[in-house]
Amino acid sequence: MSSTATLQPDPAPILACTVSRDVQRFDLLIDDMEHELGEAWGDLSFDDALVFLRQPDSSSLQFIAIAVDSEDETELQKIGDVIKAAKARKVKVVLIANQISPTVLHQMLKLGADDFVPYPLPEGALHDVLERLRRPDPVMPAGFDADGGVVPTFRAKGDRNGVILPVHGMAGGVGASTFAANLAWELATITPTDAPRVCILDLDFQFGSIATYLDLSRREAVMEILGDTASADSDSFLKSMLTFNDKLHVFTAPADMLPLDIVTGEDIGRILDMAQANFDFVIIDMPSTVVAWTETVIPPESRGLHK
Ligand SMILES: Nc1ncnc2c1ncn2[C@@H]1O[C@H](COP(=O)(O)OP(=O)(O)OP(=O)(O)O)[C@@H](O)[C@H]1O
Ligand SMILES: [Mg+2]
Repeated sequence: MSSTATLQPDPAPILACTVSRDVQRFDLLIDDMEHELGEAWGDLSFDDALVFLRQPDSSSLQFIAIAVDSEDETELQKIGDVIKAAKARKVKVVLIANQISPTVLHQMLKLGADDFVPYPLPEGALHDVLERLRRPDPVMPAGFDADGGVVPTFRAKGDRNGVILPVHGMAGGVGASTFAANLAWELATITPTDAPRVCILDLDFQFGSIATYLDLSRREAVMEILGDTASADSDSFLKSMLTFNDKLHVFTAPADMLPLDIVTGEDIGRILDMAQANFDFVIIDMPSTVVAWTETVIPPESRGLHK
């Protein structure tokens, strides 16, 4: 058999890698990677990924897709090292999560993973995430976000002590979000001049509808705040908001559906503190499900309307 090696074109450069204990357990991911990248991707174990990401060559990767299931939860340290190594090379990280607990998912996002997709992969989900990751960070004039949405321009001074008004429907679909959006707008426009500074926080991470009702885009910056509240400050929190008609400041729900327990009471406490310090009224659209952090927003002693 004669060698045809010299006739072969150069192999396609590797643009991405999956990183997993055994990629065969994620066959839908293999299909999607082939669909997105053809031959231009590789597969690495966690150990090999660490070695590879420590080499300068790995900077040419566009992203790594770390595929994990519940059996990998004991390897959190190693997975965290892979995420950190990728971030150090400015390689984007997408998590492909199969039945991972919200706590573990939260930790991985906190370590710097850029996005996550649940497994089995919903149709087109990997494609959508890659589109977002490949989009260059645009330089927008002050006051506008990447989608052309208007962002708050006032500086975080922490000079307020806002009133928190949570809105919690007693059942699904009873109009709680509609009421919250209207209440926020009425307060923000209560006088033509000198109206209070009002924000609305959509904490229904799963089915949040405030962005839809106010016709606002959903921003990645929200995910960055929720993923790591300890590193957020009033400035980054304000930057993650959008402004509705120049008057109402909106912290939308994230673009992707998130488990409600991705945040803890402590996380929500930090967000409320930042909101209270910078606004006169903080309207909160709550999910209709009671979750661990419901008490942080609505302390038991303040409930009683339904007694
Ligand atoms: N006062 C109202 N009269 C008629 N329809 C309403 C009223 N308020 C809300 N709706 C409609 O009811 C539907 C659900 O409203 P909304 O999203 O505000 O409820 P929700 O309690 O927040 O629901 P979810 O449990 O999904 O968060 C929407 O289609 C909305 O347009
Ligand atoms: Mg609602």
